Order: sequence, then C-alpha cells, then structure tokens
Amino acid sequence: MPGSSPAQSAPRERISINDNWRFTKGDPLDCTVSLLYDARPQPERRGGAEKEPDANAVTNDRTASPPAGIKRWILPTGNDFIKDASRKFVRPEGNPGGGVSYVQPGFDDSSWQQINLPHDWAIGGPFIITGGGGMGRLPSSGVGWYRKRLSIPSLDAGRSIFLDIDGAMSYATVWLNGRLAGGWPYGYASWRVDLTPYVKPGEDNELVIRLDNPPDSSRWYPGGGIYRNVWLVKTAPVHVGHWGTYVTTPAVSPAAATIDLKVTVDNNSHQSAKVSVSTQIFRLDANGRRFGTAAARIAPSTLLIPPDATAVAEGVGTVAKPELWGPPPQQRPNRYVALTTVSQGDQVLDTYETPFGIRTLKFDPNEGFLINGRHILLNGVCDHHDLGPLGAALNYRALQRQLELLMDMGCNAIRTSHNPPAPELLELADKMGFLVMDEAFDVWVRQKTPLDFHLIFPDWHEQDLRAQVRRDRNCPSVILWSIGNEVGEQYTGTNGAALAKTLSDIVHEEDATRPATCAMNWAQPTNPFPAALDVTGLNYQGAGIRGAPGQYPAFHEKFPDKFIFGSETASALSSRGAYVFPVAGGFGAAVGPNSGEDRLRHQVSAYELYYAAFGASADKVFASQEQHPYVGGEFVWTGWDYLGEPTPFDSSRSSYSGIIDLAGFKKDRFYLYQAHWRPDFPMAHILPHWTWPERIGQITPVHVFTSGDEGELFLNGKSLGRKKKGPCEYRLRWDDVVYQPGALKVVTYKQGKPWAADVMQTAGAAARLVLQPDRNRIRADGKDLSFVTVRVADKSGSTAPRADNRIFYSIEGPGEIVATDNGDPTSFEPFPSHERKAFNGLCLVIVRGKSGQSGTIRLTAKTDGVENGVASIRTILTRD
Ligand code: GAL
Repeated sequence: MPGSSPAQSAPRERISINDNWRFTKGDPLDCTVSLLYDARPQPERRGGAEKEPDANAVTNDRTASPPAGIKRWILPTGNDFIKDASRKFVRPEGNPGGGVSYVQPGFDDSSWQQINLPHDWAIGGPFIITGGGGMGRLPSSGVGWYRKRLSIPSLDAGRSIFLDIDGAMSYATVWLNGRLAGGWPYGYASWRVDLTPYVKPGEDNELVIRLDNPPDSSRWYPGGGIYRNVWLVKTAPVHVGHWGTYVTTPAVSPAAATIDLKVTVDNNSHQSAKVSVSTQIFRLDANGRRFGTAAARIAPSTLLIPPDATAVAEGVGTVAKPELWGPPPQQRPNRYVALTTVSQGDQVLDTYETPFGIRTLKFDPNEGFLINGRHILLNGVCDHHDLGPLGAALNYRALQRQLELLMDMGCNAIRTSHNPPAPELLELADKMGFLVMDEAFDVWVRQKTPLDFHLIFPDWHEQDLRAQVRRDRNCPSVILWSIGNEVGEQYTGTNGAALAKTLSDIVHEEDATRPATCAMNWAQPTNPFPAALDVTGLNYQGAGIRGAPGQYPAFHEKFPDKFIFGSETASALSSRGAYVFPVAGGFGAAVGPNSGEDRLRHQVSAYELYYAAFGASADKVFASQEQHPYVGGEFVWTGWDYLGEPTPFDSSRSSYSGIIDLAGFKKDRFYLYQAHWRPDFPMAHILPHWTWPERIGQITPVHVFTSGDEGELFLNGKSLGRKKKGPCEYRLRWDDVVYQPGALKVVTYKQGKPWAADVMQTAGAAARLVLQPDRNRIRADGKDLSFVTVRVADKSGSTAPRADNRIFYSIEGPGEIVATDNGDPTSFEPFPSHERKAFNGLCLVIVRGKSGQSGTIRLTAKTDGVENGVASIRTILTRD
C-alpha cells in the first residue's frame, strides 16, 4: 500500500549520527582514479573587489564542455532546488570511486582516528608560519575521509532514508555500501542525500564521505571537515518534503494574525497516494517546548499525489490575540509551532514541526526599520562562523556565549558574513530575539581568491540559494536576505546587475516577505547594480571611504523609495589591553606605522581610534548614522575576532577587528558600543589600564566610555575636570593627564544627575591566579562547556594588565580541557595546548564535561612565583 510504513516506529525519525566516526587525512595510496569534483584550474589571481578594465565581461553559463571529474554524479543531489525541470541533472551510469579501498564495504578503518562530529580537522594546528595569514595559518586545506557504520533495522525496509548534513567543508562526496549516492560542493550549505536506493535494511551499512578542501579558497579561516551536525532522517515514502513547509503571516493585528501555511508532500512510492494534511498551531516556551491548547487549526486538505511526484497543500488559520515576536529589550521573542500531520485514512504517515514567529516588518526609506510597527535601529555586527579556539566545529554553547556577550553589549542584529550560518545560529537568534541578515555568498562569477566559490557558482548558485532560503524562511529572526558581499559584479555594468536580478528573483520566488540586498562597497548610485536590489546595503561607503564623502545622501536621493543601511561598517582594529602612544585626536585615523600600530609586538592600540584604510572608527560611524537619521542602522565589522584576515599584520593568525577578542574577552570597544547602544543602562568604563611604571610624568590620555553625557575624572582624589559630550561625540577624553600611579576614578552624569562610576587602579606585582568559570554547572553530555577566565592578579586582586606568564593547566574529575586561548592574534601556541601565556593579564580555558559522568571537575592553573588558581565545575546528568 502506498505510503505504508512499519507501524512500530514513529512516522518520522530524525536521529543524530554525530558519534563514533573514523577519520583520516589524504587519499589512499591505491587510489588510481581521480576523485576530484572537477578540473581544478591553476591558481591565478585576478579580479576580486578591485576594478578592472574588462569588468563588463561577466557570464553565467553552465560549463558547456564535458566535466572533468565526478561532478556529473554529484549535481543531481541538488535537483530539488532547480526550478526549470529541463535544467535538472540526470545521473549518468557508473559508480565513481567504487573501486577505491576506503569506499569498499568491509574496509578495515580501525587504524583511523576515532572522532565525534562536529569535527574540524584543522583547528588543532600546528600553525603554519610561512605564507599569508588570510586563511588563519591552520591546515584546513586537503582531503579528508570519514567512515561510519550505520545499523539499519530490517523493519526500515520500505521507508525513505535520508542523510542530512548541516555543513561539510567542502566538496563532499557520499558513498553508501560502496555506491556513490551524492554530495554537495559548497561548504556552508546544508544538504540532503537520499540514501534509500543504497540502503540494506537488516544489515550494517557503511557510510563513507570524502571532503576536498582546496587551498586559496577563502579570505578567512574556513575550517575543514564535517563541522556541523549530521542526521539520519527516516520517513514513510509519502512525507513532508525537505524543508517542505512555509509559514507566512500576511495579516497581523492585535486581535488576530492570519497564518498561511504551505506544505510540500513528496510521494516517493511508485503508486499514487491520496492523503490528508492538517495542522495545529501551539505556543512555544522559551526552551522551545509546546505548551497550552492549540492556538489555531488549519483545516485538513486532501492531496492526490501521483507516483514519484510532489504536491503542495495550502491552508490558512487564525491566531487570536497573537503574541508577537520581536527583539528585546523593547519586545519579546515569542514563538509558535505549526504541527502538521499527513495521514491516509487512520494511519499517520508523517508529523512535522515548523517553529515560527508572528511579526510585521517594514523597511522604510525615511523612517528606517520597523518591527511590529515600532522603530528599531539595527545595532548589528558581522560575524564569521568560527568559534575561535574551537574552530569551525559547531558547538551550541559556544555559539550561545557569543550571542549572550553581544546582547549584553546592546547588539540586536547579526549578519552571517558571508555565508549561510549553522541552523543552530538561527535557532538561538529566534529564541533570543536577534535580527538576522542571512547572507549567501562572498563571490559570484568573479573570484576573490583563485579557488573560491566562483568555480562552482555557475552550476550551483540556484541550488545553494534556494536551499538556503527554504531552510531559513520560517525563522522569525531572519529579516533580510543578502545575495552577496562586495561581489566583483558591482561595477560590471548591466551584466552584473542582471546577475543580481537573477539572484534576487530566486529569493523572491522562495520568499516574498523579506527584501533581498547585496552588501556594496564600490557600486555608485548611478550604476545599474544597486537598482536591482530591494534595499540598499552599503559597506563602509556610508561613513565615507579613504576621505571620500559619505554615500548615504547620494543613494538616498537616487533611490528615494529604498530603505538604506550600513551593511558593513567600521573595521576598527585593536588588540585587547594594548595601548600605543601618542593617541590620535578627533575621530581617529587609519592604522599605520605611526598610527596606532605597535610594530614590535604586532598589536594595535586599544584606544579604539584606529581602523583599516577603507574603514572608520566606531565614533565616526555613529556620527554618520546620527547625521542621516533615515539610515536603518549598521552591521559592524566584526562582533568577535575571527581566525584569518589579520589586517594590519599579515604575519598573525587572527583578526584585530573584533569588538570581542578571539578568546571572548571584551576589548575596550565593547563599552563604546554598549554606551551608545544601551543608552538607558548606567555604565562607565575607563581606559587605558593604569599600570605604567615607565610613564611616570608623561602625558597619558584617559578616555571614558559611558552612557551618561558628562563626567568628572579624579586621579588620586584630585579632580582633572568635568567634561561633557558635544554633538556627535561618543567618548569623554582627558588627553593631557600626566601619569602618576594610584587610582583613577570617573563619576558620570546624565542630564545633570549622577549616573555611573568606574575606577582603575595601578596594579602591583603578579601574586595569584584567579579562575572564574562562566558557568560552574554544566551538563554531562560531552558537549556542554564552561569557559574559564584566568586572571593574573596582584595581591589585592587587581589584574596585572601586562602580565604574560606562561600558565600550566591540569584537570581532575569528569571533564577535559578542550582548548586554551588568550586572544592574542600573534600567538601560535596550538589551541589544544594545556599551557599558554597570558595575554595582557588574561587567559581562557575551555572545559567540557565527559558524557554520562556527573561529578566535580577541578581545574588548576599554575605559573612560577605566583599562587595557584583553582576552579570547580559540577557536571549534571539531565534527561535532555
Ligand atoms: C570588507 C569585507 C570583509 C572583510 C573586511 C576586512 O571589505 O567585506 O569580508 O574582508 O573588509 O576588514
């Protein structure tokens, strides 16, 4: 009977298959066939974001010549995301790789490394000291093989079985039981391979995945490996399709919200199926659990689906008095879930949950961004996907910590630069109430690095973009689709604009409820390119690049009907706790040999006044936004430091642009943003530190970041004067303070009333190590983490602000040290190391609880001549 599945198991199972994989680097010596996806061109640098005379020459044709690799077997994996049926790929005969030893069923992989996913094969290092720093100096490129035994019960015979990969870096090829089943080249895509034709129920099935990460393929650290979660999905042959639901809320009022739901049902059987599709809608609590009775129902609809075909059920429901989704602190991220049931007579064939939120979005050219009718300035940051010392390997807690720190700063928006994020980032954003600019690509046809995504763009842009939008379109956090970042097509005349239109059209076909944009750093208002976009996202041009006038007015005038915002701003640079003298005045200066750089140590001054040549200080960007109130807000480059792109010192391993360093320690800039983005939160922050034995009697400027508007500074109790912020001033500065050791104190005011205070004390010699876990209770699930800050302190507890002691760590109890870091972009100590130097007084240890073992972990830190530090962390067994 069509659609029937064994009654003993749940109609749909989604099983994590992260554990117990075997892994090895490199192809086997006996591999005589080429497993290359496609012919790989000789690296040749050209194009990129720079203008070229032949810039109009952009083509987007699928490769006409016969492919030189196994891509003809891989391409059909994306067929569901190709709209024009005549362009779908037909799988050729043959079984590439079938003869390679690693692919063979029964291959003895016992000598391979045993690992659990998510896995980043490169993060352990060692760092590569030669060559450029762009990709993070870690061994991410090359081939990697993964093998896993899947036991598929005989009762699964007749079911559809899929492998869902949230992300694998990159050029994945999948074999099951020796047969090539599919794959996907783009390392940031989430994708599915239908294993059904190759599965052997009742037997051990052997899953083999080969990845091939090209060198010179990225402008930042991509990571390497199956770095996101992996699932086995089992359904009846008739089931809700991959990302097969689409919820929209076309009418929202305080009294009621209309819920429009489309459900795509696939019939993978060889007989037609008549099914009924019905949906109930429930509230979700903060943990994502359903509660209460159904808030709405969508009436059942009947579908008659021919064999091997797909049909769409469309229904409408009404939620009375909807609890809206919106960003805190002004609004709350309330969520609902649509629970869809596909049934045939009395038999439930599938159940499918679609979490969503009810909210209205308005992108107004003059008023800016409104959510649920209320104006909100986008106080956003751009972030890459890596998790610092944990690399690209997804970890929920590490991601959550990144977002928690950003929220504490007043950040309300994230740009997933420059690629689709892990699904968990959107899950957290939905739960916490972040707004997301969900970006697809860093390059299209025109390359930025020799072996980057441009090689696969012609074949894959449609599948990648449709897959991204289909995966993410039910997330209330996503407010904008970005089809690209600073693509070389910006200035390619009508060809580039036509390509932008093609991509925008794809987005609109998949989701018409949010605008499509592209982050532009070159396009001028008179170019055809910006006209092809729904809203105008300007990178750096808003505040003005290299002294050029800011471009907000010119774009606003040319496109009076388009919302405009800073899709990438600032690129301010600094190293936490490193201060360089003299100090720039005004809005600061581009970084350079005599401008903020410590050329000896390869650090950049944390006075937070220096920026990349094309960028601007945070202060200057704030002013440009305030002077143009129609601008919807900004996405700062970057929230967190990231691996790779270590401008201005290419010899380093990681960036200087983060507001938060790679270890997760706040730079002074954090407080500059907090002061501006959380004006109602009383805070004051003094910089620099006040331990300068070599500067006695020298001018040592003192700056204060405060959400107040006025402040009085005292050195050892003596007033150094009261200062007030002028128009477009975002810091209080006492630039002629003569250094004497002791205590600096600032008392700030807001509208004349006392507001907040801060004290900075001269530290004595390092005397003890102070350990502070961010959480002293974690789950014993082998995933949860405690981030332990290690402070080198003097005997009274003040941080020794330039301490660089080498600290040794040991651990007892049911936990392990996963990584250590200190936020120093020049540090080449491998991340897994249990010893590490402090950087400007701080160090970080990341501790993980062992799976299934509750108890107390004891972490000890030791360094010569200083009292040891200890931290205790309890691990707790929980049911979920
Ligand atoms: C921007 C670019 C980012 C990053 C940044 C460096 O132009 O979009 O990806 O490269 O510059 O500061």
